[in-house]
Amino acid sequence: MELLERAHELEAQGFDVLHMEVGEPDFPVAAPIIEAAKVALQRGLTQYTSATGLPELRSAVADYYNKLGVKVRAEQVVITSGASGGLMLLAAALLNPGDLLQVTDPGYPCNDVFAEAVGASVVRVPVSAQTAFQPTLKDLQARWSEKVRGVLLASPANPTGTMIARSAMEELCAGLPDDAFLIVDEIYQGLVGEQPEYRTALSVSSRPIILQSFSKYFGMTGWRLGWLVLPDELVDGVRRLAQNLFICPPTVSQYAALAAFSPGAMEEHERRRRIFRERTLRLAEGLNALGLTVPALPDGAFYLYSDVSAAGLPASAFSRRLLEEFHIAATPGLDFGEYQNERFVRFACTVDLGVIDEVLSRLKAAVSRFQAS
Ligand SMILES: Cc1ncc(COP(=O)(O)O)c(C=O)c1O
Repeated sequence: MELLERAHELEAQGFDVLHMEVGEPDFPVAAPIIEAAKVALQRGLTQYTSATGLPELRSAVADYYNKLGVKVRAEQVVITSGASGGLMLLAAALLNPGDLLQVTDPGYPCNDVFAEAVGASVVRVPVSAQTAFQPTLKDLQARWSEKVRGVLLASPANPTGTMIARSAMEELCAGLPDDAFLIVDEIYQGLVGEQPEYRTALSVSSRPIILQSFSKYFGMTGWRLGWLVLPDELVDGVRRLAQNLFICPPTVSQYAALAAFSPGAMEEHERRRRIFRERTLRLAEGLNALGLTVPALPDGAFYLYSDVSAAGLPASAFSRRLLEEFHIAATPGLDFGEYQNERFVRFACTVDLGVIDEVLSRLKAAVSRFQAS
């Protein structure tokens, strides 16, 4: 947030700041979604819906999985106010005060806050490039204790874009204690390369609780809409919590999201997926050539977690100087945890290829200057 504030100050002074810190797609929402929102407004469809969301949207989400070859019933789907709303509901449903939740380090920083909001806390499991920044069963077991109730992992992950390998997912689903839960945050699902090992953890095992969102692949960040795919026994508790905490997810957004699965919108989402992939690969290649290595090439999302140690200064100083002297905003590793956080910087490819080329040219100058000083 500090970085963003400073970036805006520099812009106000007339500097051309290149924004590589923004974790949100830079495309407008697909036209069919806008049309559906307009129709909903014209028809006055603005009242509360049921707490779990519009039945037709729950069915559309279940169909989305069925088309991926995974059996999901509409009754297992709960529509939420973004993945954030889903995280709040899961924390409230699954954790009690004093409980522990395992998360990865580095990982999505807000996860801690959801656990803490219900009096629980997180256990950070350090993950390195050697395992593509994803934990093995052994890593989780090494930090297990009586108070750990479950695990929250992301695949593809923020800030690294890496997926949990299929074999590792199989091992986790089979090897975690029977009474532990496994939440897989698939908010970047869909935004992947051509041949992902799997499209959803549910195709590997029926065990994971799935956290999903319309924010990233569907490009609907500000519409605040996501969903959960739950085991049957959790649905009623989550429904009651949703009713009390949120009443319902945003109604107009839900009607709009029905169009997110239409062939026209899906074609557009796929086009954007390819663009994100092209950008990510272009920046990865450029970073590697500059010695700002990307040790684990992302499987998806639009992030690159780059090891900046070759520049000769800690990642926080690297980010600060990059912004002040070269007007590139990128997020230092310390925003994502503690482990190796002074080695890595996250670049988000939410800018077009022209900007990426300009970023690389400024980075080249930056690395030379930082190494010389
Ligand atoms: C890994 C991860 N999970 C959850 C979220 C929350 O997203 P939203 O509430 O917009 O669905 C984000 C947002 O960037 C994220 O990166």
